[in-house]
Amino acid sequence: KYKGNPEFKLFQYKGFKFISTVHEKEYLDSLENFEIRDTDILAVTYPKSGTIWMQYILALMYYGNDVNGPDGKLTIDVAPWIESEMESLNYNERPSPRVFVSHLPHYLVPKGLRKGRGKVIYLSRNPKDVAVSFYHFHNYSKTLENQNSFDEFFDKFLTGEVFCSSWFDHVKGWFNNSNDFDILFLTYEDMVKDLRTEIMKISKFLGRNCDDRKIDEMVQKCTFQNMKNNKNANYQLLQESFLDHSKGKFLRKGKVGDWKNYFTEEQNETFDKVYQEQMKDCPIELIWDI
Ligand code: A3P
Repeated sequence: KYKGNPEFKLFQYKGFKFISTVHEKEYLDSLENFEIRDTDILAVTYPKSGTIWMQYILALMYYGNDVNGPDGKLTIDVAPWIESEMESLNYNERPSPRVFVSHLPHYLVPKGLRKGRGKVIYLSRNPKDVAVSFYHFHNYSKTLENQNSFDEFFDKFLTGEVFCSSWFDHVKGWFNNSNDFDILFLTYEDMVKDLRTEIMKISKFLGRNCDDRKIDEMVQKCTFQNMKNNKNANYQLLQESFLDHSKGKFLRKGKVGDWKNYFTEEQNETFDKVYQEQMKDCPIELIWDI
C-alpha cells in the first residue's frame, strides 16, 4: 500500500508536511472543529522525540487496570493519533477521558484546546538525536521514503524537507504559543535521566495523583528494555503495511547523544549555526549528551 504506491508522497497542508497514504485533507479540515472535552489529553511531539514512550505512559496511567487497557491492546488503539482518523475507534464516541497523541503543529490542533479545554503535554528531544533516529526510521517505516545516506538526510532535516516539516518551527510554535494552552513541557532527556520524577510531573499535571505503587509500576513497565520486549508497547504488532519489522525497531537505542556517532565535525558546526539562528527567539535548554 505504501512504498511503491504512486500516491506515496509527502504533501503540504497549511504549511506542514503530511504523508499522502496516511493523512487525508478532508479529515484534517475537520480537525479544527473536532469537539474537545475538558477531560481530553493530547500528547504532542515532533517525530522521534519519544512519542510511543509517552503514549505508553499515558495508556498505563489511564487504563492500566482496565481489561481494555494496554496490556490487552496496542497502545496505538488505546491512545490513538488524533490526526489520523481510525474509523473503528470512533473518536467522537469514545468514553472520557480520551487520550490522544499527535505530531501536529500548534496551529492545526482542534481549536477547543485553546484556553481552558483539555490538557496538552509537549515532549521535545534534542534535534541532533531526533535527526539520527528519524533517519533510521525512514528506512523501516513503509510510509516514509528510504534514505540513501545520513548526509543526505541531514540536509533535508535541517531545511524541514521531511514529514512534519522543520523541527525548529514545530518546537518554536509550541513554546512561543504556550499561553494559548493548558500545557506541560517535558523533555526526552529528563525522562532518560529520571523517569520517575517525570512520570510524577505528568500525574500531577493531569490530576491523577497516582500513588507510589502505581508510579513504581509505570516506571518499571516503561524502561527501554521492558518496552522493547513488550509487543503491545513496541509497535511490533502494528500492521506490516506501516512498518517493515525486518528492517528496524521502534525501540532502537534509546540513548542521549547517539548523534555523536553520526555527525561529522562539519555537520555539527553547520547544525549549531542553524540552531542558534533559528532558535534565537526561543531560548530553550536542551541536553545534548549525558
Ligand atoms: P532511538 O531511535 O534514538 O532509539 P517516537 O516514538 O517519537 O517515534 O520516538 C522513538 C524514539 O524514542 C526512539 O529513539 C526510541 O528508542 C525512543 N524510545 C521509545 N521508548 C523509549 C524508552 N522506554 N526509553 C528510552 N527511549 C525510548
